[in-house]
Amino acid sequence: MSNSNIIPGFSKLSKEEKIRAVASHFEHPEQVVKELMSFNHPNAELQKKFDEFSENTIANYYFPFGIVPNVLLNGKVYMVPTAIEESSVVAAAAKSAKFWADKGGFKAEVIDTRKVGQVHFIWHGEKRKLEEKFPELKHSLIQNTTHITANMQQRGGGILDIKLVDMTMHEPGYYQLKAEFDTCDSMGANFINSCLEEFASILKDWIETQTIFTEEEKQVQVIMSILSNYTPDCLVKAWVQCPIDDLGTFDGGMTAREFAWKFQKAVKIAQVDVYRATTHNKGIYNGIDAVVLATGNDFRAVEACGHAYASRNGQYTSLTDVSLENDLFTFTLTVPMALGVVGGLTSLHPLVKRGLELLGNPSAKELMMIAATIGLANNFAALKSLTTTGIQKGHMKMHLLNILNHFDATEEEKEKAVEFFKHHKVSFSTVRDFITAERGQMIHQG
Ligand code: MEV
Repeated sequence: MSNSNIIPGFSKLSKEEKIRAVASHFEHPEQVVKELMSFNHPNAELQKKFDEFSENTIANYYFPFGIVPNVLLNGKVYMVPTAIEESSVVAAAAKSAKFWADKGGFKAEVIDTRKVGQVHFIWHGEKRKLEEKFPELKHSLIQNTTHITANMQQRGGGILDIKLVDMTMHEPGYYQLKAEFDTCDSMGANFINSCLEEFASILKDWIETQTIFTEEEKQVQVIMSILSNYTPDCLVKAWVQCPIDDLGTFDGGMTAREFAWKFQKAVKIAQVDVYRATTHNKGIYNGIDAVVLATGNDFRAVEACGHAYASRNGQYTSLTDVSLENDLFTFTLTVPMALGVVGGLTSLHPLVKRGLELLGNPSAKELMMIAATIGLANNFAALKSLTTTGIQKGHMKMHLLNILNHFDATEEEKEKAVEFFKHHKVSFSTVRDFITAERGQMIHQG
């Protein structure tokens, strides 16, 4: 391979060398070096920590760290930390929190916290023999992993169950050891994967020593051992409820009952149409991801799990549901998520640490309820806007500052624009026209 753009051993370069290598791709390398370095944290020790969160780090990537205040959940008021770049998400969640605060607030409960891991293996033998012997194998798997599980057990968690799953109808000889775990306050990925890799080696050793198996049956090929991010039994439910008439009136004089009816139709549409369901659920993850990220958790895992769960009955559908029974408006989100409040970034990233502190150092279960609540809050806000004023009015108002920044607006121009656009429609071209007029006027005045 002789491509001059290939840099052998990039990861071995020092940070500065990496920055220079990257900057050499730009027209003004020195300027880029300066810019990248300007994102460094002044505290060198902290910067080193940030660098070590990942590989080949050349700068810090800034994201807004914001707060959803006044979230009344299970009778307690939280200030919820978020990390997200989309301008209207935090405002929308805050609006929902305000809307529901005088209607009893949000309620949430954790249904279960079981996590799953699998050893996938190929074994060609008489299934009956393996099944017969499985209780013995299971005992051995649990007994011979106590060096890994002892601590977790002391904290009240550990291995909950191990099953043998026959997958031979899909692939010749394919079986799984499917294990369930309780990982208490940690997300548990390392714990689960360590247990699974140990299971795999115990399985191989065990099968070799069993006289019931023929020589051929003593051969087992472990394909892989890994946790599953699909955790349908690590499930949380968050909901709001009030008498329909207490919903109040809405923009354009819409009554509470008209609103409830339209809102219910909007949820129904997301339940039956995959195009709408995807956007609907994306709005839920606007809130969930923001909390998950701010608290140092793995938003990819949380999202992957949620979308798989949304398809559990064969059709991708809404994660929320609404009921208007007994004259009550009840809006519910049921969503799986595996979160941790210890380990990982939780004590390493200063803002994650502060965020968790701000939440009162919650348990993993409490954090699941908080994240689900913000997801529900965002979905409520989105559907409320969509079914009343439309989304763009609020969205573009929030986006106004981004557009103004695009035109390098001064503080004075921003102030004037915010005032002007209280009564005018925001769009890229209306803001451009406004700025052009402002600047023209200033030049004229000058
Ligand atoms: C935008 O980030 C999210 C929404 O599109 C969600 C929805 O349509 O429900 C507003």
